[in-house]
Amino acid sequence: MKIGVIGLGFVGLSLSSVLASKGYDIVGIDIDKEKCNKIINGISPFFEPKLDKTLQNGLKKKLKISDNFLLINECDFIFVTVGTPQNLNGSIDLSIIKKAISTIGENLLKNKKKPIILIKSTVIPGTIKKIILPILEKKSNKKDGKDFGLISNPEFLQESSAIRDTKFPHVVVLGGNQTVFMEKTKKLFTKLHPNVPIITTNHQTSEMIKYANNSFLATKISFINQLSNICQKIPGANIDDIGKTIGLDPRIGKLFLNAGPGYGGSCLPKDMKALINFANISGINPTLLNAVEEINAKQLEQIILMAKQKLGDLASKKITILGTAFKPDTDDIRDSIAIELIKKLLKKKAKIIIHDPKAIKNTKRIFENKISYAKTIEDALSKSQCVIIMTQWKQYEKLNNNKFKHMTTKFVIDCRRMLVGKQLDIDYYAIGLGK
Ligand SMILES: NC(=O)c1ccc[n+]([C@@H]2O[C@H](COP(=O)([O-])OP(=O)(O)OC[C@H]3O[C@@H](n4cnc5c(N)ncnc54)[C@H](O)[C@@H]3O)[C@@H](O)[C@H]2O)c1
Repeated sequence: MKIGVIGLGFVGLSLSSVLASKGYDIVGIDIDKEKCNKIINGISPFFEPKLDKTLQNGLKKKLKISDNFLLINECDFIFVTVGTPQNLNGSIDLSIIKKAISTIGENLLKNKKKPIILIKSTVIPGTIKKIILPILEKKSNKKDGKDFGLISNPEFLQESSAIRDTKFPHVVVLGGNQTVFMEKTKKLFTKLHPNVPIITTNHQTSEMIKYANNSFLATKISFINQLSNICQKIPGANIDDIGKTIGLDPRIGKLFLNAGPGYGGSCLPKDMKALINFANISGINPTLLNAVEEINAKQLEQIILMAKQKLGDLASKKITILGTAFKPDTDDIRDSIAIELIKKLLKKKAKIIIHDPKAIKNTKRIFENKISYAKTIEDALSKSQCVIIMTQWKQYEKLNNNKFKHMTTKFVIDCRRMLVGKQLDIDYYAIGLGK
């Protein structure tokens, strides 16, 4: 049995590497030749813990990487893991997946195999039936359920734990018609993840499950952020004690209850916008989802307000941003709140210096010489008038009086409450702590 993976980003490369390291015969295909060359040499094009090692392990076994689509003709299962970015109006841009599906269809035309195509990319409900299936059938001149299988298989991995999540998913969702192709797919996943629940449903419900999942997580974050704003008005109140305690209630659950600068990253903002757009065009006013987004946007304003209250006009003020990655243990800055904050501060003519253990290269691509980049935390803090901790990198836990001593004004806004309880000779503000 051979498995193809189309699109070697966070999802596709993690999947190919994990499956190959387990001994499966894998072909990983990407249109980006440069990316393919790096991967062939055992180097991941982005930072993800444990990925390089898993990839190298896979390459020693049966992992083949290529930009040649003809190789999918040998595959029994083809996972589609290309990007589905967002358009300006919030809807998803399907051009990349349409192109990938067209190429798969053209190859199917000449193929004697009856492969199963699994859509892992996140797509709005109805996309597989109304857009992907017609392209595949037209280009291949073949029929779903007879000549090939088409199954929705949304991905739930989190960056920074992509390898663990790919090895040990909490659920497998398979959406599609109940055919022999579905039975074969269930068998594959039962073998891969023997103790994991497999939910089978139709295409559109499966597509919707992914949006339900991410919009619920975003809702939890905005909920705790709104409470953290209230806590800031209660002297001595601490949002972490509240989050920890309500999280012990099994009906609530402990994850995604950490107040902070708002949700960011490659998935939550994009998926929220796509779901809101979809609800609107379906004639449903998504009141709750709109509120979740509004609270998220306001979190950033809160941070700017805290800075202004202390520094006054921010023009020419030297502000240090600690962390631009959307979360620790990744170099991904897609839709990172820190990047949004820098854009807003630049509009106010502040002078920005940033530090991030992994994401400097990606940040430079956006801001080039409009901001300064520090190699060390000490350099980032030197002569600064304000430091804003944005990403919860472990390194920032070690900040102490010695590190702050070269700041011009020792003023810290801690969006992650990393320095709570430390004896620090600084003016300290934190999201979610009542002053
Ligand atoms: N990143 C995440 O944490 C995550 C989690 C769950 C679901 N998802 C979803 O999974 C999908 C992929 O996300 P990602 O973050 O891995 O994307 P990505 O942008 O990191 O990677 C996509 C890859 O596809 C390649 N590609 C584009 N067109 C191609 C084509 N025609 N043929 C072959 N390769 C092609 C690109 O070169 C790129 O390497 C998206 O729909 C996303 O919403 C992502």
